[in-house]
Amino acid sequence: MSIDKHYDQSLDPAALLQDVQSAYPDGASLFQLAPVDQLHIGGIKASQRLLRHLTPKQRVLDIGSGAGGLMRQAAGLGISMIGLDITHALNRLNRGLNQCLDEPVSTSILTADAHDLPFAAHSIDSILFQHSFLNMPRHDRVLSECRRILRPGGKLIMHEVVRGENPDNMRYPVPWAQEKTQSHLLTAEALRQQLLEAGFSDLAIEDWSADALTWRQRQLKKEESGQPERVALSPARVLGSRFAEMARNLVLNLESDAVRVIEVVAK
Ligand SMILES: C[S@@+](CC[C@H](N)C(=O)[O-])C[C@H]1O[C@@H](n2cnc3c(N)ncnc32)[C@H](O)[C@@H]1O
Repeated sequence: MSIDKHYDQSLDPAALLQDVQSAYPDGASLFQLAPVDQLHIGGIKASQRLLRHLTPKQRVLDIGSGAGGLMRQAAGLGISMIGLDITHALNRLNRGLNQCLDEPVSTSILTADAHDLPFAAHSIDSILFQHSFLNMPRHDRVLSECRRILRPGGKLIMHEVVRGENPDNMRYPVPWAQEKTQSHLLTAEALRQQLLEAGFSDLAIEDWSADALTWRQRQLKKEESGQPERVALSPARVLGSRFAEMARNLVLNLESDAVRVIEVVAK
């Protein structure tokens, strides 16, 4: 199954937007949208932590922007955000959610593939990947495209899942992949090497795995408690009815060190 099908097979953007508007007729906060637009481990808090690397007025590209939670948070801080995603239905949802905020924001959103970035050389100040590099089969190609479009001294910032010490323990489905063929995890060390080979320097890597596990365990408890207000807006509205199984597997994968979660900053 192609990667955009994985993300859009269960998604009905119009119905979901309608439900968001009914639930929050006066506009939703970033926290209220988070269950459907922060589709990564750590939710809105992890995005906040990532955004410390950016400053207002920068032109920032979020590659694999999904439903756009991180973009709206950044736009609210005065950062000029462009979102690029291969899944057209997620881009439609992202655009619609901009209008559902209590304080609407403006962002640019386009459908494209990270392996061929439709931007001029040196035209972007910073690039973000949040749980999207993990879906990309040709990491070298994606990184060389990033290097081409970043201005000299520009930053590459990643919040990604990487392969842990025990990859044989990996269970599927997970939120980013129904099956092994859709998941393209490197070890943190292999990612470091790929970044150096692509011409990046000043690498800083932080391991966020412990916080990631605590957060996912807490979410799982809430999701399994079946509180009705969480049913309307849940990641299952985007990722489908197998989300519960994906979430349980994610906890097991983190516990068994099949995967880790890291932050990477490079120049
Ligand atoms: C797990 S979701 C994360 C979405 C968002 N970054 C977030 O954290 O909420 C991964 C996203 O990467 C996008 N993606 C996967 N492969 C891509 C590619 N080759 N080019 C652009 N986007 C891609 C998917 O469509 C999906 O929206």
